[in-house]
Amino acid sequence: MTAQATSITTRLLHADEGLADPYSMAPPLHQSVNHSARDADHLAEIATTMGDSYYTRRGNPTSSRLARVIADLEGAETGLVFASGMGAIATTIMALVRAGDHIVGQRNHYIGITKMLTDLMPGYGVETTRVDQRDPDAFAAAIRPNTRLIVLESPVNPMMHLTDFRAVCEIARARGILTACDSTFATPINQRPIDQGVDIVMHSVTKYIGGHHDLLAGCVVSSRAVMERIWDLSMTTGAIGAPFNSWLALRGIRTMELRVRQQNATALAAARLLERHPAVARVFYPGLDSHPQHELARRQMSGFGGLLTFDLKGGYQAGIDLIARMKLARNASSLGGVSTVVTQPAVLFAERLSPETLAEQGLTPGLIRLAVGIEATADLLEDLEQALRAC
Ligand SMILES: Cc1ncc(COP(=O)(O)O)c(C=O)c1O
Repeated sequence: MTAQATSITTRLLHADEGLADPYSMAPPLHQSVNHSARDADHLAEIATTMGDSYYTRRGNPTSSRLARVIADLEGAETGLVFASGMGAIATTIMALVRAGDHIVGQRNHYIGITKMLTDLMPGYGVETTRVDQRDPDAFAAAIRPNTRLIVLESPVNPMMHLTDFRAVCEIARARGILTACDSTFATPINQRPIDQGVDIVMHSVTKYIGGHHDLLAGCVVSSRAVMERIWDLSMTTGAIGAPFNSWLALRGIRTMELRVRQQNATALAAARLLERHPAVARVFYPGLDSHPQHELARRQMSGFGGLLTFDLKGGYQAGIDLIARMKLARNASSLGGVSTVVTQPAVLFAERLSPETLAEQGLTPGLIRLAVGIEATADLLEDLEQALRAC
């Protein structure tokens, strides 16, 4: 790219250097498991270094291209693509600690991360402490001499709590502890954690980056030194991304900024509508003035995301009725795609989690999670309003 592009979309469309065929308008798909070497020296080189032209479990040109694009957006040196968001997160955490080490995480996380911190890592001899992410001092207080990693996630579903990256990373850096943040909900459009001191950024590419409900993938970006440690373990776990999914994600990411801007606008409008509605007890969205961490959201995010939650006064049955009446929102899992998805977590978790865990995670019976798509804002608001009449 010759001109200095300031728009992310322009950069995404034109910064994709090194197309094999310079006249092709789309990146190539390298659906090849192995690559041959020019000679013995070349073979020795590609077989022993972090690269993308030897064997696809160790790296693939299409996946590397996706990792490069995400690393560029996040301001990282390099990255790796995984089979799923959890593949990325689990490999990262496991690569950076050993038995006898300690991890500080948050009380609220995506459930897969919580499970890693509460079940998996302790089983491998790694101690973990989970703290209230809203309080940077709680991170400082939890640090021990053997703390090697702080796992962050912001914003976090369902209560949309935020973590103050600058404050927590200052504490971590002063003690030589790495910080790794799941930034899936914010996307690289709304938040750049590395600019604020975070060492490692992890994404479920399945969500906003892919954006079309058609692929499962994950990504981690960081410095080359950290990524080499994660790459080393990824060759053993084999949770590496499939080239075709990376290719789909490369297509999705080209329109990510447009999608996310639309999702930001619709989510904010929906949050404001819900906040005024008599059937709604509370709305959780970092873009609302009423969000307890709104000031922090304004400081560290450039948009507030497409995900919001709200608590219906009518409880469990009101949630069932609302979802049944919504015409544009699909009752499905996941988020971040072009179509709006609505879920009532209590339907899934009421039987599986203890009352204490449900309360700790803010999963009240009438809680609804709305992950807005790119439908016209007015259409979605109208649908929401007509469905709320049932509550
Ligand atoms: C915040 C967050 N992180 C990680 C994941 C895991 O991603 P994947 O489903 O791609 O493994 C999810 C999935 O819902 C998520 O919401």
